[in-house]
Amino acid sequence: MTQITLALTKGRILKETLPLLDQAGIEPLEDIFSSRKLVFETNRPKLRLLILRGSDVATYVQFGAADIGVAGKDLLLEHQGDGYYEPLDLGIARCKLMTAVAKGAPSHQGRLRVATKYVNIARKFYAEQGRQADLIKLYGAMELAPILELAHEIVDIVDTGNTLKANGLEVRDEIADISARLIVNKAAMKTKFSSIQSIVDAIGQAVEL
Ligand code: PRP
Repeated sequence: MTQITLALTKGRILKETLPLLDQAGIEPLEDIFSSRKLVFETNRPKLRLLILRGSDVATYVQFGAADIGVAGKDLLLEHQGDGYYEPLDLGIARCKLMTAVAKGAPSHQGRLRVATKYVNIARKFYAEQGRQADLIKLYGAMELAPILELAHEIVDIVDTGNTLKANGLEVRDEIADISARLIVNKAAMKTKFSSIQSIVDAIGQAVEL
């Protein structure tokens, strides 16, 4: 058996990923949440887990530093990398990528200012709509931008809608349905085919349960 490295997204996605891995027979040997470690061995001797920021998972898998990854589709769309396949929709961490504006704001005429951490997705979305948009890159708390008139709109993920509501915003356009996906490095899929396929199959079966 060859060593396989599986990169996971920390935070909310991780909490939903671990039960799925458990159902697939993959268990970390120690409690991930009470440790500061970034690499964890599992009950499968040749399978280890990395705990990364979601935006870095695709990069690790693209360059083969990890063989397999779990990341939100929002970050995969934003990453725009190649070098990996996306064989499974894990059906977890579901949300929507939306535009949002200050509640009751009239639709803005002319050039839009849009604040987001998803600048690549936003550039493509507004271009497809034929709308001119200047993008402002933010790293969090995007909901503040329309209220403080930094931007007319934001592009962000929306789950319950509570964050928008609590900050006086409302959704406008839907850009994409989001969920966590399994990705696999293309070269590793060839060179470590049987090990990777058995993991993908086991996780695929857990998703079906
Ligand atoms: C996301 C997003 C919103 C919130 C939406 O942030 O940026 O702030 O969740 O969820 P809701 O519709 O259920 O209120 P997250 O908590 O993932 O943190 P982040 O800002 O680090 O992405």
